[in-house]
Amino acid sequence: MTSPTSENLQIFLEIATEAALAAGAVLQGYWGNLDAITEKGRPGDLVTVADKASEAVILEILRRHFPSHSILAEESGQLGEKESEYLWAIDPLDGTTNYTHQYPFFATSIGLLIAGVPQVGVIFDPFHNELFRAAIGLGATLNRRPIQVSQTEQLSKSLLVTGFAYDRRETPDNNYAEFCHLTHLTQGVRRSGSASLDLAHVACGRVDGYWERGIAPWDIAAGVVLLEEAGGKVTAYDGSPLSIKSGRILATNGHIHTSLSTELLQVPSLSVWGQATAF
Ligand code: IPD
Ligand code: CA
Ligand code: CA
Repeated sequence: MTSPTSENLQIFLEIATEAALAAGAVLQGYWGNLDAITEKGRPGDLVTVADKASEAVILEILRRHFPSHSILAEESGQLGEKESEYLWAIDPLDGTTNYTHQYPFFATSIGLLIAGVPQVGVIFDPFHNELFRAAIGLGATLNRRPIQVSQTEQLSKSLLVTGFAYDRRETPDNNYAEFCHLTHLTQGVRRSGSASLDLAHVACGRVDGYWERGIAPWDIAAGVVLLEEAGGKVTAYDGSPLSIKSGRILATNGHIHTSLSTELLQVPSLSVWGQATAF
């Protein structure tokens, strides 16, 4: 297995940054100027010219610098060498629904997995000009300044964030019961519409925890590195090691991790909330 040096990681970080900033400029260019918005399959799963143009810019930069690496890009799928230990996981526009409504919460997310382990992550929010970067052992930053997770220790004092996948109308495992349960136990649960920014915001302490099901590797690869380097914890719902392809993630400041995991594993059925129960 390849063990990259910190010099190598720094190079990957710089190129990922170049790609994320270029993609951000594309997204700013199309902001408020979309002529066609298409559904990809499921209702609400949208794709626009901005998603595609952003992805094209990222692919061009990564392929030019790292022609032997594999790429998993949301709009283009798996590209490049299958045997490569290096896999870039790319979401060119994370928060497409927000973007099409001109709700200013979206980002470009670029993560690098080496031998299956997320090691480099860059998330760029062009609307707020916020650049989140991290690499294993090199720390996590927001606009080049170090960031850390929050110190909140109790679930009852926490602010959380989550999301609802596009298959939510097709399955009872749609995160609605979890949302109600944790809304009741915390200071609030937000639904921002951009998984990568959710992770970035846990990493910089704006929220204390995030969980989601039905999530793809390109949504979380960069954010996982950011959160770990900012002192947070990322696992499966039950606290076991995260599998990036499992579709489920629990990410917190570390302090509330066990409590949040425990609650996610014992969520009451939705019918409880119809009775306005004092919990
Ligand atoms: C979506 C966003 C959203 C999450 C969905 C994702 P997209 O990504 O990250 O917050 O709840 O599960 O699919 O489609 O905007 O790239
Ligand atoms: Ca996404
Ligand atoms: Ca996307």
